[in-house]
Amino acid sequence: MSPAEPAVPVAAEAPAAPEPPLLHVQWVTLRHRSGGRTVTAVEEVELRVARGERLAIVGPSGCGKSSLLGAIAGFLAPASGRIAIAGRPVSGPGPDRAIVFQELDQLLPWKTVRENVAFALRTARGLGRREADAAAEAALARVRLLDRADAYPHTLSGGMKQRVAIARCLALRPALVLMDEPFASLDALSRRRMQDELLALWDGASPTLVFVTHAIEEAVRIGTRIVLLSPHPGRIRADLPVGRAGRCEGPEAAALSRRVHELLHADGGDWCI
Ligand SMILES: Nc1ncnc2c1ncn2[C@@H]1O[C@H](COP(=O)(O)OP(=O)(O)OP(=O)(O)O)[C@@H](O)[C@H]1O
Ligand SMILES: [Mg+2]
Repeated sequence: MSPAEPAVPVAAEAPAAPEPPLLHVQWVTLRHRSGGRTVTAVEEVELRVARGERLAIVGPSGCGKSSLLGAIAGFLAPASGRIAIAGRPVSGPGPDRAIVFQELDQLLPWKTVRENVAFALRTARGLGRREADAAAEAALARVRLLDRADAYPHTLSGGMKQRVAIARCLALRPALVLMDEPFASLDALSRRRMQDELLALWDGASPTLVFVTHAIEEAVRIGTRIVLLSPHPGRIRADLPVGRAGRCEGPEAAALSRRVHELLHADGGDWCI
């Protein structure tokens, strides 16, 4: 019988430090000051968003959704609490975030569609002219607008303008995409089409998304998770998972929409869709 092998001491493996959430809104209160008045927009919001999540934020008008998105973008400093992206505190706008607003006129009117995207790529990603043009064209192809690359924004429909804004936003390759009611000005059919297009774009790239909307059904379609804010000043009222893949449809989506409607109406407030 061979002598027993001496036991080899095995160094205890240090447990891996947990990855910080991509976005951490840490007990944030936001205030606006104007004309000698101070308005509290949101109060003590604590929110962790993991990499790859699509978070839909819904809540009554005036509850502070845009203020919260603006603070994440770095346009508004918290009155208390802090916001961090991948563990680093946000102290202003940065290339790790890109935003699409509700307004249909967020393109530079004196630049063509291609130039609108390429200009952003040159300034934010530091690409050279030729490289930026090529990347802009690839982004426009993804939103099926390559044939309008030489057009000026005023010649496009509202939905087309939003597609250019989305193409520009995704071409910047931010870690975090912020969208503030980007489809609210579109008619119902265009809106539905844009939701499908957005989800199709996500299949390829999957950056993390924070998407503000008034429309509960839109939140259920787009989000992998829904956060409800209470009426003004906004506090987190509920945090509902939609499912890992999102894209909730059929009876499951109807049940979730009903649940969100019930929670929001239980709050009262100036609620409109
Ligand atoms: N620049 C500002 N100066 C003063 N008050 C502001 C400013 N921006 C927003 N507010 C106030 O802060 C509160 C939150 O506004 P915010 O625009 O964030 O709400 P919202 O949820 O996005 O509303 P909506 O759904 O109508 O877009 C409101 O009471 C609003 O009047
Ligand atoms: Mg708003």
